[in-house]
Amino acid sequence: MPEDVAVALARAAGRLGPFAHEVRWYSDVPSTNDIAATWAECGAIEGSVVVADTQSAGRGRQGRCWASPVGAGLYVSTVLRPIEQVLPFLTIAAGLGLTEGIQAATGLVAELKWPNDVFMSGRKVAGVLAEATSSPAGTCVVLGFGINVSIAAYPPEVADLATSLEEQHGEPVARGRVLAECLSAFACRYLDLAEGRRGAVLEAWRGRASSMVGRRVRWSEMGGHREGVVDGIDDAGALVVRTGDGPTRITAGELQWL
Ligand code: BTN
Repeated sequence: MPEDVAVALARAAGRLGPFAHEVRWYSDVPSTNDIAATWAECGAIEGSVVVADTQSAGRGRQGRCWASPVGAGLYVSTVLRPIEQVLPFLTIAAGLGLTEGIQAATGLVAELKWPNDVFMSGRKVAGVLAEATSSPAGTCVVLGFGINVSIAAYPPEVADLATSLEEQHGEPVARGRVLAECLSAFACRYLDLAEGRRGAVLEAWRGRASSMVGRRVRWSEMGGHREGVVDGIDDAGALVVRTGDGPTRITAGELQWL
């Protein structure tokens, strides 16, 4: 692991909850989620962390690629073995933790878009991808997140949609500090869920997603498209959209912001 990252994690050690007792750092992998999944199958403990300098096949949600330019981002996967009550809110807590960690490390205020995209100045700066496997022993979730830390050349199809912490801050940002603060904030929110404080997580999430309310969205449903105006998220973490047919709950899938 790079020295600056080791120092940042050591400084935050008392605040990392289950995270980073075990960290594996790679220079180049296809996807940190795959490395973490294999490690999980071999018994990785809860909170084990995989980080890479770059990914050759980084994955985003909905089968998209996650551009992972060398050394310009944080490409991180954690192994989690959550209790049942935590599962439906895990990615909400992760997205929230990213915004809180980014703010603690840089002072930058990021916004959330359902389900867990992190935006700044209308462009995406970070995202979360959770992949679960179930066995008689329980559910194991590999929760991956990517954060664009430094200014880099992104593929043309995402160049106008993406931003980085460095671009937003106007000066370089220390990725070790960002990693440590994001893991620390996520650890707090994970504990909130595990200890039954789901309401606090949802309230904080809503506070960071206020710009989403009132926006027109389109989504796919049963082979067609539907449109409506966002009301917010309900207590089960579903997006509530006002349509001509009344309020509709969206629990999965992709939104197009109009
Ligand atoms: C999204 O917003 O579409 C989710 C992006 C998740 C990207 C991260 S980078 C680390 C981990 N490994 C992957 O292949 N994907 C996630």
